[in-house]
Amino acid sequence: MRLKGKNIILGITGSIAAYKAAMLLRLFIKEGAEVQVVITPAGKEFITPVTLSALSNKPVISEFFGANDGTWNSHVDLGLWADVMVIAPATASTMGKMANGIADNMLITTYLSAKCPVMVAPAMDLDMFAHPSTQRNISILKEYGNIIVEPGEGELASGLTGKGRMEEPEKILEAVIQQLGVKKNC
Ligand SMILES: Cc1cc2nc3c(=O)[nH]c(=O)nc-3n(C[C@H](O)[C@H](O)[C@H](O)COP(=O)(O)O)c2cc1C
Repeated sequence: MRLKGKNIILGITGSIAAYKAAMLLRLFIKEGAEVQVVITPAGKEFITPVTLSALSNKPVISEFFGANDGTWNSHVDLGLWADVMVIAPATASTMGKMANGIADNMLITTYLSAKCPVMVAPAMDLDMFAHPSTQRNISILKEYGNIIVEPGEGELASGLTGKGRMEEPEKILEAVIQQLGVKKNC
């Protein structure tokens, strides 16, 4: 239970690697963490909120507003609650928005409100990853102090081989535990 007492925001975006986020979520829970999933609208095309809420024992947050009844989700409260925010998988689009403050969904507003360390695990095809735009955005995120969990090299979902596959959930878990060991609180 190496994450007992820790609050984690798990951000999930619209990548084919989103299925791995379910395994990462399971690992966080098994280690004793409380996890709030925040998923982009595109992310929900790749993995269902039902799976994620069942694994986390919490409703998944995705939209700003509730069911037209005046309720809303508070990214500010979430940003203050977390000990660490982990965005896995992180698409090229989401990293571009993070780098430029384009706060058009719950995940980005939560990111901008987060006082805690933010860890980002990119996932995409090799050419998207190698593009100067993606690389520049990653550099900007590093400048902001975000921690990039570098993608691995190997066979990609597209069938191509190269760098871009999201790091394995077990390795992301270890990186999170190490990070929380360094910085105890936000
Ligand atoms: C089948 C499929 C797989 C995709 N996989 C990725 C991916 O691994 N990485 C990525 O950056 N974009 C990927 N995309 C594109 C994103 O889904 C798209 O850019 C989306 O707008 C991302 O939105 P989000 O970052 O808000 O979740 C994929 C699209 C499709 C149709």
